[in-house]
Amino acid sequence: MQRKIVATVVAAAITLGISIQVVAETTPEDARDYRGSVMTALRGHIGASSMILRGLVEDNGQLLNHAESLANTALELKNLFPAGSNVGESKALPAIWEQQEKFAEAIKATVDATAAFEDAVVGGDAEAIGAAFRAMGQSCRGCHDNFRQSED
Ligand code: HEC
Repeated sequence: MQRKIVATVVAAAITLGISIQVVAETTPEDARDYRGSVMTALRGHIGASSMILRGLVEDNGQLLNHAESLANTALELKNLFPAGSNVGESKALPAIWEQQEKFAEAIKATVDATAAFEDAVVGGDAEAIGAAFRAMGQSCRGCHDNFRQSED
């Protein structure tokens, strides 16, 4: 009996622990690191798509995977920039939080461009795929040019 009560309490604590973790406030450092990981994922899918499109490697059905992943991952952009997360080595410029409307437009441009790229890949027309790919890259640069500290 005693043991059963302890087990129940432990189980409840674990459940509680998990739910506490889920609602825990994200630290600025974790927000920045998560942003870096998601951005790096976007770049990875673009790099892989580019190699397939240039015919350097075979498309084993992966172009569609990369296109879908780009479109799905772009949906997370709006959650990547909590205020105060430009900490440490972050290259996020204050303009992100000062020009919120313009920043939201930059996010929408990439969300739309990645969706269009996915549509083009599904459509299968090489010229349309190439055009959508270039437009997608431009949408990334459009935001970086205005809202990311340049490399130099
Ligand atoms: C709405 C703005 C915005 C869009 C759209 C955007 N980025 Fe970024 N990206 C940023 C900012 C700001 C940073 C710098 C973040 C930091 O250092 O905290 C960044 C950083 C990066 C990094 C460096 C990550 C690291 O920390 O090593 C890569 C790679 C990257 N972006 C790729 C992309 C690609 C590819 C796309 C398009 C599919 C894209 N980004 C779309 C704003 C954007």
